[in-house]
Amino acid sequence: MARGFFITFEGGEGAGKSTQIERLAAKLRDKRYDIVVTREPGGSPGAEAVRHVLLSGAAEPFGPEMEALLFAAARSDHVEQVIRPAVERGAVVLCDRFLDSSRVYQGVTGNLDPDFMAAVERVAINGMMPDLTLVLDLDPEEGLRRATARRGQETADRFEKETVEVHRRRRSAYLAIAASEPDRCVVIEAARPAEAVEHDVTAAVFTALETRSASGSRARADA
Ligand code: TYD
Repeated sequence: MARGFFITFEGGEGAGKSTQIERLAAKLRDKRYDIVVTREPGGSPGAEAVRHVLLSGAAEPFGPEMEALLFAAARSDHVEQVIRPAVERGAVVLCDRFLDSSRVYQGVTGNLDPDFMAAVERVAINGMMPDLTLVLDLDPEEGLRRATARRGQETADRFEKETVEVHRRRRSAYLAIAASEPDRCVVIEAARPAEAVEHDVTAAVFTALETRSASGSRARADA
């Protein structure tokens, strides 16, 4: 494989992203793909240092612009240190949250100016747009129930603790992004058992990988 493939998983709290990433990674490794599993905020030493500042709520008093810039700083480090080198050596990168989380959590529910968000996004990703984004869609009340059960005694993080109404706006924002970028995004109904979700995730990923290799061989045949 020449250039690799960059897949992101998005969705609200408790949508099952990490379970699905683990299952997909195992399946792709069985087929001998070179797989890198990573997550945001974090994924590189620099970005993991910023993660704690964001999720503890330490940056919250300084406002949503500050938080958006910190997510972007973490993302830039993660892209340059981990994602781009992996994709360039031919790996398939599976990333738990990426730019759509910033568009939704900071842009939409942080009420930030779209031009500001677009400028910050451009700097953060520096051209590293995902090839495929799977949006795991789930009713926020169910998602929060799952997230609470998973968390046990730990307290909710800075973004999870917001009201159900805020989580509802996030769900709609994800669906709006998916509708406006249908070539990149696939919405997967996540309220079903993990096996059913996994089936659709696998189908979407293999279709995208096959489409990519078909267009790659076409490009070679045309050359
Ligand atoms: P995390 O503990 O990784 O949980 P999960 O992805 O399972 O929900 O928490 C990440 C939190 O950070 C989550 O509430 C979403 C939020 N977030 C943003 O607000 N903006 C971003 O750009 C990213 C990547 C995450």
